Amino acid sequence: MRLDILTLFPNMMSMFFEESILKRAQKKGIVEVVMHDLHDYSLTRYGSVDDYPYGGSAGMVMAVEPLANCIEKLQSERSYDEIIYTAPDGEMFSQPMANTLSLAQNLMVLCGHYKGVDERIREHFITKEISIGDYVLTGGELAGAVICDAVIRIIPGVIGDEQSALDDSFQNGLVAPPEYTRPPEFRGWKVPDVLLSGNHAKIEQWRMEQSIARTKERRPNLLKNQ
Ligand code: ADE
Repeated sequence: MRLDILTLFPNMMSMFFEESILKRAQKKGIVEVVMHDLHDYSLTRYGSVDDYPYGGSAGMVMAVEPLANCIEKLQSERSYDEIIYTAPDGEMFSQPMANTLSLAQNLMVLCGHYKGVDERIREHFITKEISIGDYVLTGGELAGAVICDAVIRIIPGVIGDEQSALDDSFQNGLVAPPEYTRPPEFRGWKVPDVLLSGNHAKIEQWRMEQSIARTKERRPNLLKNQ
């Protein structure tokens, strides 16, 4: 997969991709992440890419021309499965959405800033608008990083143990069961006996029961969606 990220803060964005699993995914050649600094597409001597909104409200808007130039340059080089825009009024991000996006060959992610982008960019270029929650961030970079992280980690080969991504919370519409590691007892706090039993069928059954109980208790809305 190739991921093109359009941002005003490429250094801040790069940080997320330079550690751990996301770094390994790139080293293995499974993902190529390319940052594009929108300042490079500025039409002014000062490198600005924003302007005052028509109609005179507060704040600044990312201007149509530098964004269109950047997007069109990339589109002339390859075709994109989706051109994503991160915005609080977008569709709510979810595991099924991450699963679908993980099948793409080429994704573009435009990280919004200030009051957002000139609406004409959304109308004419953006194919998918995504929000990561009902709150407003200072910019779309964190949202873009969240989306890329969730998408990249489920591409086959990225996580060593294939099964582990499939076992995640939400993959089966349930939250994950509790996990334990050694020692079997700490300050009298014991690991459930079943996990030490070596009986895989029983362990699987216990995990499923725990998942269902936890989902009912913590995230009952997930059960309603089934
Ligand atoms: N930009 C600002 N807030 C956001 C949010 N909640 N989701 C996605 N992009 C955003």
